[in-house]
Amino acid sequence: MTQKATNIHWHAGNLTREERWKLLKARGCTMWFTGLSASGKSTIASALEQVLVQRGVHCYRLDGDNIRHGLNKNLGFSAEDRAENIRRIGEVAKLFADSGCIALTSFISPYRKDRDLARQMHEKDGIAFIEVFVDAPIEVCEQRDPKGLYKKARAGELKGFTGIDDPYEAPEKPELVLKPATMSVEESVKVCLAELSKRGALPTWAD
Ligand code: ADX
Repeated sequence: MTQKATNIHWHAGNLTREERWKLLKARGCTMWFTGLSASGKSTIASALEQVLVQRGVHCYRLDGDNIRHGLNKNLGFSAEDRAENIRRIGEVAKLFADSGCIALTSFISPYRKDRDLARQMHEKDGIAFIEVFVDAPIEVCEQRDPKGLYKKARAGELKGFTGIDDPYEAPEKPELVLKPATMSVEESVKVCLAELSKRGALPTWAD
């Protein structure tokens, strides 16, 4: 995206990222959960967030439904709006991670290109980006249908619903794949914790 503003200058502050993380005894990164609506992204991210915070790890969840009530209030579900939704969340997650926080994002993020852009933003800045594919078959999501949205979409009352009449592009090389149809939430949380541990993202007392 082109930058509109001119005459702006980057101000680096008085601390390097390494100094900040060392002093705060933290290590930021982004764990990016992607998958169909009702696949279990938010449930797993919430359970992981709870475990991490209980262990004293600075961690924060950014959730699609919630962010669309505030920061992304002005966005709908067209491909352009979804792209902007993901671009903003990519930037916000990166800021959280830079501050030393483990950012957990829970967005359908149906387009590979948008997710790859979020990854690039992180990686070019030296921040770890862990893509987690919450791989639940659409039949399972549709059967769960906690908000009744699949039912509405099938009835033609909701247009452009992901998985019904809007695309979902599964990740090709995600760092993790979780299968909520056959894995408990606790198992999924364990897998995520193991990945964070492997990457040295957990402080010693929480590892
Ligand atoms: S994304 O595609 O831009 O990543 P996001 O995760 O923010 O989507 O929001 C998805 C949530 O919005 C769904 O879980 C569902 O509750 C709701 N929603 C409403 N309309 C749609 C739609 N057309 N497609 C997908 N989700 C929708």
